[in-house]
Amino acid sequence: MAVIASSNAPVLLMDGELAIVAASDSFCDTFALDRGDMEGSTLAGLGGGEWGGRQLGSLLKGTASGLAEIDAYEMDLERSGQVSRRLVVNARKLEGDDAARIRLVMSVSDVTDARIAEKLKDDLLREKAILLQELQHRVANSLQIIASVLMQSARQVRSERARGHLRDARNRVMSVATMQRQLAASRLGDVALRPYFTDLCESIGASMIQDRDQLSLHVTVDKSMAPAEVSTSLGLIVTELVINALKHAFPRHRKGKILVDYHSKGEGWVLTVRDTGIGMPANLADAKPGLGTGIVQALAKQLGAEVRVAAAGPGTIVSVARS
Ligand SMILES: Nc1ncnc2c1ncn2[C@@H]1O[C@H](COP(=O)(O)OP(=O)(O)OP(=O)(O)O)[C@@H](O)[C@H]1O
Ligand SMILES: [Mg+2]
Repeated sequence: MAVIASSNAPVLLMDGELAIVAASDSFCDTFALDRGDMEGSTLAGLGGGEWGGRQLGSLLKGTASGLAEIDAYEMDLERSGQVSRRLVVNARKLEGDDAARIRLVMSVSDVTDARIAEKLKDDLLREKAILLQELQHRVANSLQIIASVLMQSARQVRSERARGHLRDARNRVMSVATMQRQLAASRLGDVALRPYFTDLCESIGASMIQDRDQLSLHVTVDKSMAPAEVSTSLGLIVTELVINALKHAFPRHRKGKILVDYHSKGEGWVLTVRDTGIGMPANLADAKPGLGTGIVQALAKQLGAEVRVAAAGPGTIVSVARS
């Protein structure tokens, strides 16, 4: 009894009829009970009867008869004029020499505040995820608006050169917009590359291929997923290489194909863009590196990958590989 009384945790000692034998100070303090009133009372008689719940009573009776033990039973303690408290109750029957003298120990912990804190944390996390998704949607929308403004400007300018530049700029923006859309659709922050590259090439093709019977664009990608930053870089590389093939490989309505392939193996991966066009200019002076080459080189370096350009007979094959 001394052990019970001096316990720091809210603990009750009861007999087989659930009459109170002893209570810890902490029990009296936590549940605002007067020690004097507790003597001779049963559990159901404590305070305003808030401990008299039928379920708790029958569980304790079961424990007293040795049929069961109460292990983390959760209950709400309702007291008039007070906020309900969520409690976790454990109870054991004490084994003694005297079979007729039954003793039950019931310990109670108040988990109300912990549960509120947990719920708050869950709510905050959920809210953050929703905000992030919302932000991604908005970024994707804004980028699409920029892309469409660039496209409209491209239609209005007279110079063929300026039109080309505006169309390329539109495709670069679309590359990131498509990526953002994929990211918003994914839960883990990883992007599935197949739908991403497929959408991306569809969008570039729609803006740059006039006759789909003449030129076709195919995408083959395995089931790879990649983190957002890596995906963005890969998408921009695909954009530059596909634009190059469309711009340079098929002059004068030449027929042909462009193939985009990506597959990974362990940590490494290979991205290739192949066309069946006229091939790189034999004369180096004619293949003056432009912005595209700069973008591809810089992104490949960032990814720890190497760029190789080779003749494909017919056409060109550019591979970007990380081993
Ligand atoms: N698939 C290809 N087929 C034939 N020639 C190509 C191909 N890709 C690139 N080239 C040649 O390489 C040159 C350099 O390409 P790069 O992407 O660096 O610049 P660009 O496409 O001319 O300009 P920008 O990329 O800045 O719009 C091109 O001008 C073109 O002559
Ligand atoms: Mg280019």
